[in-house]
Amino acid sequence: MRRKSACVFTRSSCVALRPLPMFWRLAGLVALATHVQAVEVSPILFSGTHDPTLTLTAHQLRTLTAKVGSYQRPGPRNRTVGYRGFRVEGFPVLRGCKDAELFLLDLFRPQLPEEAVRHIEEELSLDHSEELDLPDALEFRGKVNCSHEVGPDTVPAYDPQHDDAGCFVTHQSENNCYNYATDISTDTFAQPGRGTGHKWKANTCAAVRVAAESDGLEWKGTSLPTAAPTGHYVALFIWPDTNFHWIRMDHAGNWSHKPGGTPVRNTDNKGRKIHDPSKSDFSPWSQFCGYMHVVPSMVKPDRLKEE
Ligand SMILES: *[C@@H]1O[C@H](CO)[C@@H](O)[C@H](O)[C@H]1NC(C)=O
Ligand SMILES: *[C@@H]1O[C@H](CO)[C@@H](O)[C@H](O)[C@H]1NC(C)=O
Ligand SMILES: *[C@@H]1O[C@H](CO)[C@@H](O)[C@H](O)[C@H]1NC(C)=O
Repeated sequence: MRRKSACVFTRSSCVALRPLPMFWRLAGLVALATHVQAVEVSPILFSGTHDPTLTLTAHQLRTLTAKVGSYQRPGPRNRTVGYRGFRVEGFPVLRGCKDAELFLLDLFRPQLPEEAVRHIEEELSLDHSEELDLPDALEFRGKVNCSHEVGPDTVPAYDPQHDDAGCFVTHQSENNCYNYATDISTDTFAQPGRGTGHKWKANTCAAVRVAAESDGLEWKGTSLPTAAPTGHYVALFIWPDTNFHWIRMDHAGNWSHKPGGTPVRNTDNKGRKIHDPSKSDFSPWSQFCGYMHVVPSMVKPDRLKEE
């Protein structure tokens, strides 16, 4: 898993694609810069809510291309939740190219909370060369209708390919941490309380908890729970004033999570398995709120769905 790679658009997916030679990657970018007028970009950043997006002009894209070509640095990252690079429409994730990433960050500055800008700047200043290279699986579309797939009322297994008919893989970008934690795919980036008319109002433990209670989740306090007779446990984390994150307990006391529209993971930001959420690293979601209990079949279909 650990590997050194040059500053390129790192290409990886659930089927192990060999990285394209550097020349083709750059050629692809140049072609893009000359033939395409506008390209959508977004940072891989938030978990509970959608990442902001913006459209690059052809001129900005040419500047980006030049910066990608001029900087060499390894691109792996242990971090599962938080900043993991930029998505550039039509290309694999841009990561490990500090100049190019700083250029994009500047464009996003006006629409990002200060906290978020600070976090990205800090990540860009760190040396990630000895970390794991976690793949950013590309989404592939399946035939299943994922607008309401509900997991069992027993403790879930860690099995993203089959969980909820595979919806967290085939509809990866449309289901977030709350969908995965509750084990209910809705394709709506579920928001606590949105379907009941009590959508969360602030990124605080209290506000997100109350919203989740309106969806049918039950507060369990801060002591690590053991297996539930029905349903399963989830844990809530807060990036103060910025975002929320949920993780869930699977079989055998192992926990997993789905950071925003990115792949399901069973490790924390230090590359460790998660056995005691309060001791795991989900920074900058640094505030551990506590545990809640959920019985997927008891969460009314429309509760998580409303847009
Ligand atoms: C999926 O099912 C829902 C009803 O459960 C329906 O409204 C929707 O149109 C379906 N979507 C597709 C793509 O078939
Ligand atoms: C849970 O974690 C332990 C320790 O890492 C591991 O040995 C075990 O196989 C895991 N169980 C499941 C069901 O993933
Ligand atoms: C990254 O994860 C690996 C594997 O768990 C671990 O050995 C290494 O110390 C981690 N590095 C950092 C900086 O968290």
